[in-house]
Amino acid sequence: MSNTITTSTVINPGQWLGMLGGGQLGRMFCHAAQSMGYKVVVLDPATDSPAGTVAEKQIVAAYDDANGLAELAAVTRVVTTEFENVPAASLKQLSSGCRVSPGAAAVAVVQDRIAEKAFIASQGVPVAPYTEVRSEADLEQAGSHLFPGILKAARLGYDGKGQARVTSVQEAIEAFAAFGKVPCVLEAMLPLREEISVVMARGFNGEVAVYPIGQNTHVNGILATTVVYPGQISETIQSQAKQAAINIAKGLNYYGVMCVEFFILQDGSLVANEVAPRPHNSGHFTMNACATSQFEQQARVMAGMPLGSTQLLAPAVMLNILGDSWFSPESDEYREPAWNEVLALPGVSLHLYGKSEARKGRKMGHINIVHEDFNVVLANARKVSDILNLSQVL
Ligand SMILES: Nc1ncnc2c1ncn2[C@@H]1O[C@H](COP(=O)(O)OP(=O)(O)O)[C@@H](O)[C@H]1O
Ligand SMILES: [Mg+2]
Repeated sequence: MSNTITTSTVINPGQWLGMLGGGQLGRMFCHAAQSMGYKVVVLDPATDSPAGTVAEKQIVAAYDDANGLAELAAVTRVVTTEFENVPAASLKQLSSGCRVSPGAAAVAVVQDRIAEKAFIASQGVPVAPYTEVRSEADLEQAGSHLFPGILKAARLGYDGKGQARVTSVQEAIEAFAAFGKVPCVLEAMLPLREEISVVMARGFNGEVAVYPIGQNTHVNGILATTVVYPGQISETIQSQAKQAAINIAKGLNYYGVMCVEFFILQDGSLVANEVAPRPHNSGHFTMNACATSQFEQQARVMAGMPLGSTQLLAPAVMLNILGDSWFSPESDEYREPAWNEVLALPGVSLHLYGKSEARKGRKMGHINIVHEDFNVVLANARKVSDILNLSQVL
């Protein structure tokens, strides 16, 4: 195998693609890459990870294990990741022999909310008013415009974890102590009208492909639904959000699939919230509703292939399935959800992540509902929500 790999090297089907991380996003990547004829090697510390169990090869090692990373680099020349807290140092080690996308520098920015917010703002994209918090003194000096606010740990937060809503300096100081005084950002609580996200891909030649915008609803800090019916959001907001995402990706020298979460405020203005350096839960609708799924797109980018069409084939709703659906709402008894009733509905596709144990609050899978008539999509989404006891948010 030649040692030199450049940004124009094309990896053909039959060759290996490498994935750092074995979660559900890695699993769906495996399925997409394998259906194109690629072989996938997954590195993850667990022996039974959702992605590791479907990959052609799994390396069981910590994400920062130098031997495990060397073994990965011996199998494949191209590596991507499926979670944002991958140690940037691991990406750096891999980059000496492999083409790593996204690169260590881009991931390092977006995995730290302090660096991320400053970077987004530097690209001319508005963010919530915020201040960096490294000490109690930073909170004592925080302006009143940041209250009520949200204190967010700078690193390792997800699904609303590592966050506290605070109404006063005193509460913020208590939350900061409860987080172990790790670096944080304090940002003003904004009046949200809507949450949307832009999933996009950028290839090594700078080519970009942007998916239709999804409208997201969260329950208890976890994404519950994504609705994709473009007529519901103004053209102006759609193009502003797409252009902002493209600017962020370019500014980061980003290669791969990326998601930017935005808030639309009550006054109609747009604020960027955070960037995910990977396919995103709010992009799962692309698996059934778009010409190319976000996971196929991820494989295309890393292989140096042309990007696929992001065209929306029909309106869609994505419903996340948490472990709660396995517990009877009456008796709390553990039992299998009524999949047969779900799958009897037109336009419904089931995606489960192969996790053996359903726990409350744990992401187990999702359902995509796609139909040319948006009213049918909505009606069936409500029926699925009933059958699986999901929060009725539509
Ligand atoms: N500044 C804010 N104003 C109002 N709501 C917010 C703000 N920041 C976060 N939220 C709410 O909390 C959710 C989770 O916050 P986010 O920063 O996206 O963290 P996570 O990493 O957990 O996704 C958001 O989707 C939004 O509903
Ligand atoms: Mg978020």
